[in-house]
This record gives sequence, structure tokens and C-alpha cells, in this order.
Amino acid sequence: MKSFPHPERIAALKPTAVNRVLEEVRSLQRDGKKLVSLMRGQPDSSTPGHIVEAAIAALGAGRTGYADNRGEPALREAVAEKLHRSHGLRYDPAEEILITDGATLGVYIALGALLSSGDEVIVPAPIYDAYEAVILLWGGVPRFVPGEIDQGRFSLDPRKLEAACTPKTRLLLLNSPWNPVGSVLAKTEIEHLADLAERFNLVIISDEIYDSLVYDGRRHLTPAALCRDRTVVVNSLSKTYAMTGWRVGYCAGPEPIIRSMFLLLQQSSRGPATFVQDAASAALQGDQTCVEYMRQEFQRRRDFVVAQLEGIDGVRTLVPEGGLFVMLDVRGLGRTSDEIRRFLLHDAGVVVLHGSAYGEAGEGMLRVSFAAGGDTLEQGVALLKAGLEKLSQTPSASPISPQPR
Ligand SMILES: Cc1ncc(COP(=O)(O)O)c(C=O)c1O
Repeated sequence: MKSFPHPERIAALKPTAVNRVLEEVRSLQRDGKKLVSLMRGQPDSSTPGHIVEAAIAALGAGRTGYADNRGEPALREAVAEKLHRSHGLRYDPAEEILITDGATLGVYIALGALLSSGDEVIVPAPIYDAYEAVILLWGGVPRFVPGEIDQGRFSLDPRKLEAACTPKTRLLLLNSPWNPVGSVLAKTEIEHLADLAERFNLVIISDEIYDSLVYDGRRHLTPAALCRDRTVVVNSLSKTYAMTGWRVGYCAGPEPIIRSMFLLLQQSSRGPATFVQDAASAALQGDQTCVEYMRQEFQRRRDFVVAQLEGIDGVRTLVPEGGLFVMLDVRGLGRTSDEIRRFLLHDAGVVVLHGSAYGEAGEGMLRVSFAAGGDTLEQGVALLKAGLEKLSQTPSASPISPQPR
């Protein structure tokens, strides 16, 4: 076998949790096993019709050439309007907004534009597992600060965040609504974070991809409302408009940072397809009833999952305030989260993610997605419940199959 170069920076990367578990799932499915997946954060509805029609019309009109590398001007205007509508913030579409291929590229170029080798990034934990690799790739050092479960929700202790700051700390990477734990940072929490950023001269990268999915009358707040001059907002249309496969998102921030990010964007994707950007403008500027409809539907699904999983010995449900995931505190079952996940996969036939995939702070938790509804959710939750009940009745010293790797 020919040997190919394998640079150190690639050796530092590992596949995302979803991709790792998907490999196991596909191998079981090839052997004929029937599985129900409550794993992915992918809304199951199709993209609203008026957005699809806008893309078709754009294709028909020949909108297939290179897009403006910063993002099509009309879409940047639409993003500026959206940020004003949602937060009362004004951004200059010419210099303070960029259109990216989803939030993934937004986070990637924001970190790339801001990190020098050895710079430290404060990251609450457990957290979306696709941040760490990018920090490492750009030569940064992630400093994970574990959240704490307080009154049934994960929250951040300002003293711990402060204790994690060193002279090398440059960035604070936030995600609210917070994947995987479901907390929506409250005003006081955002105030503490903004104060920390001011005192330690940090830039905040704020991934707000679940901003439209907040429940029980809560509101999503952005740190940019408090410290606009040191915050890069990263967002995308993936979840809000059921557009995960369209690969379109946006960033807004201070002009000097956006200028650096634009340099990286030019050297990577140069932005989403032109007709996709036209569809994104239609999404942001059109009737927002579809967004509210989805929010209500996901709140119903969340309530269903929470109600079904109540009363299992050793299992506590953390009711999410936003996002697409319920966290189950399974420490009472006396096994690692990966052992439990594998038991549920092999024995109960249901796919969920182990909390430790989101860092050590997620150990003892399981992440259950309610992004898929209908029969998938009903069957998946029934299988999950049966599997967890079986485990809760099995002494924790007894082996369960399959054995941990
Ligand atoms: C917190 C978070 N950020 C970013 C992404 C990726 O977003 P996009 O599809 O816009 O690239 C996800 C996807 O699940 C996510 O959960």
C-alpha cells in the first residue's frame, strides 16, 4: 500500500461523534438490524415551499455564476434586517456581515481569523464536539470549563470561567441555546460573560444556530447586544428553516474581524451557491409563520419525550429550554454513558449519543434528539424507555452486552 503524507494537524483531528456512531449504525444495519435513530439534530420537515420556489426561480433566472465572495448584497441586507428585527442591532451589510457555508464554516473562519499559535479559548462544557478540532487546527488551545447542573439545568459558574482565564486567553466560544445540554443563557449569565470578556479583553464567538428554537416563552439573547464591539455572531439557516443540506449561514461582527474572516473565506469556499443565497434571502425576508410553527412543534416533541421518560429508576431528565435535544442524567445507572449508549444500540435498537462524546463534562449523560417526530419519535422513545428500564433493573456490576471496547 502506497504511503501518503499524514501531517500532524490531521493527526489531531477525530471524526465527529455523529460520524463515529453512524459507522457503528451502518455496520449493524448491513447485518440486517432494525434501528430507530434519536441521534441527529436534523429537523425532519422539508424546507418551506416558498424558499424552495425562490431557489427554483433563481436557477431558472440563471443565477448560477460565482456569488459575491462576501455574500450576495441582497442576502447581506436581509441578514442585517434580521439582526435588527431580533436584537435591535445595526450591522453594515457592506463591511460587517459575511455569508458562509453554514455555521460550520462561520466558526471555522472566525477561529482562524482570531487565533495565533498557543492562544487559549474558553469553552463551556459539555459542548458541540465540532469546535475542539477547529481550535486545534488553528493552533489554539481549548480550555473547557464544565457547566454545573443547578435546578435541573446546566449553568456556568462565573468564578470558574474567570479562574480558567490566563494571559494567553483570547476567545470565549459560546453556544446558546446550548448543544447538547439545552440551556438558553439567561440575561444575568450573558451579563457575566460580557463582563468577563471586557475585563480580560476577550473576543466572543457566539454560535446562535438554535436561536429560533426556544421554549416556554423564553427569548434568545445574544452577547452582541451587550458587547457588540467584541462579539462575532455566527448563525445559519440550517435549523430555523429546515435547510441543513443547503449549507448557508452568516456571520456579523466588527469590521476588522470580518475583514480577516473574509480573507479566509476567499481562500476556502467563497460562499454558498448563488441560487442558494437567493433562497436564503427569501427565507429571511418572507413570512416567518413557518419558524413559529416549527418552534411550537418542537416544543410539543420535547414535552412528549420528557413525559414519556419520567419515572425510570436512576434516570433524570433535564428539560431543555431550547434546541433539539433532551439530556438524560443516567449517572444513577452506575455505568458509563458510552456503555449505556452501546447497550441501547445493540439491545434496545435505538440510537442516541453518549454525553462523553461532548467532553468529560458530559459523562453520565445521554443526548436524545427530538428533531425527528412522528413514528420515529414514538417508536424511538418507547425503545429507549424499555432499554433504560431493563438497565435500571440490572445490577450495575453485571455485564451487559456488548462489552465495552
Ligand atoms: C451548535 C452547532 N453549531 C453548528 C452546527 C452546524 O451548523 P451548520 O449546518 O449551519 O453548518 C451544529 C449542527 O448540529 C450545531 O449543533
